[in-house]
Amino acid sequence: MPLRAIIGAQWGDEGKGKIVDYLGQEAALVARFQGGANAGHTIYIGEEQTILHQIPAGILHPDTHCLLGNGMVIDPVGLVQEITLLMQRGIDIQGRIHLSSLAHIVSPLHKILDAYQESSRGPLAIGTTKRGIGPCYTDKVSRRGLRLGDFFNRSQAESILAEQLSQLEQQGIIASDQREELAAEMEKFWQAIAFILPFAVNSVELVHAYLQAGKLILAEGAQGTLLDIDFGTYPYVTASNTVAGNICTGLGIGPRQISEVIGVYKAYTTRVGSGPFPTELRDKVGTYLQATGVEFGATTRRPRRCGWFDAVLGRYAALLNGFDSIAITKLDVLNGLDKIKICVKYRGGDFPTIDLNLAEPEYIELPGWQQDLGQPQHFRDLPRAAQHYLRTIEELIGVKIGLISLGRERKQILVVD
Ligand code: IMP
Repeated sequence: MPLRAIIGAQWGDEGKGKIVDYLGQEAALVARFQGGANAGHTIYIGEEQTILHQIPAGILHPDTHCLLGNGMVIDPVGLVQEITLLMQRGIDIQGRIHLSSLAHIVSPLHKILDAYQESSRGPLAIGTTKRGIGPCYTDKVSRRGLRLGDFFNRSQAESILAEQLSQLEQQGIIASDQREELAAEMEKFWQAIAFILPFAVNSVELVHAYLQAGKLILAEGAQGTLLDIDFGTYPYVTASNTVAGNICTGLGIGPRQISEVIGVYKAYTTRVGSGPFPTELRDKVGTYLQATGVEFGATTRRPRRCGWFDAVLGRYAALLNGFDSIAITKLDVLNGLDKIKICVKYRGGDFPTIDLNLAEPEYIELPGWQQDLGQPQHFRDLPRAAQHYLRTIEELIGVKIGLISLGRERKQILVVD
C-alpha cells in the first residue's frame, strides 16, 4: 500500500506540480489533502503551459485518477473553469476526477469576506490570494460551513447561505448596491454546484480501496511548510496545515499508511505575499532571480520576492515533515551567477523562537557555475560547482537529494541514484 507524499518545504511555489507530474506517471491516484484554489501548479508539456489550481497535476496522465480530498476547500466555479480548460485541451477527464463529499465549499461570500478582511488589516494585510480560503476554513472550524455533500439538500444549503448573507449585510460587509453583482455570482455558483455534484464520492472508501489494492497514491501538498497554520511564519500563513502530518486528516488515513515523504525545495527561495523573509534579496541578484526564474504567482500573477537558499528553515521543514528524500527544482536559474550564498545560521537564535523579522542571516559563499546545465544523465555530469552546491544543501538539511529539476519541461529531471 504505497502512499508517497510530495510536500513543499519553503513558502510554496517550489515547483511541486512538476515533481507530481513526473512521479504521477506511475501513480494510480493523485490526491490533494488541503488548501484550495490558492494553489497554482504550472506544468509545461512541450510549449504548452497548463496552470492547475485545484485539480492535482496527475490529471495530465491518461490513466491517473485525481481526488480532491476532504481536507480541501473547493471553489466550485474555479473547478468548473479548470475542467472546461482541460476538456478544451482534449484531456479526457471522464470518471477520473473525484471530489470528497466531506470537503468544504468556498462560496462567493467567502471571497468577499477574504477581500474585506484583507483591506481592513491595512498595512498588516497578509497578502492572501483572495480566494476565500481563510473564511471557508473559519466556517469549517466554527461548525457552520457547507460541505459538498450538504448540497444534495439544496433547500437547506440555500437557507444557510441566505442566513450568512444577511449576517454580512447586517455587519455592513456587503452593501445593498452589491446585491445585483452578488446575485449574478450566486447564479454561477449554483450552476457550478450542479455541475460538480456528480463528482462527489465517499473519499475514505476510495482512498482505502486504492491502498488495499496496493496501487500507488501520490498525496500532493499545496503551498509550503513555512505557510503552515501551526508551524509557518504566523500570522503570515495560509489557513491549513501544509505539513505531511495533515495528509492523515486531509485524506482519512492512518500515519503508518504513508510510505514515503518527498520534500520539494527550490534551489533558492521565493515568497509571495507579506511576512518575514530573512534571506530576501532586494538588489540586482534578486531581480535577476525573479526575471530568470519567471517568478510571478501562478494564481495572482504577483511578483514573487526572491532570496538565497535558507538552510536554517530548510532543516526545520525537514524535521517537521520527516522527509525521506528531497527534490531540488529550478537549479538552472542559478546558472551564470559568480557566487551563490546559503544561509546557515541566524545571529541571535533559531526559528521558531527568534522573531524572523529581526533574524540576521549568516551565509556561506560558494562558487557559481558559468555554463548551461544541459541534459545530464548522471549527477556527476553536472558542473563541479553545481554538484558542490547541491551536496552542501544535502548536508545542511540532513536529507539526500533524489530528484533535480533542471528546466521547465517534463523531461528535464535528473534522478540521483
Ligand atoms: P491564502 O492562502 O490565500 O489565505 O493566503 C495566505 C498566504 O499564503 C499569502 O501570503 C499567500 O500569498 C500565500 N499563498 C497561498 N497559496 C499559495 C501558493 O500556492 N503559493 C505561494 N503562496 C501561497
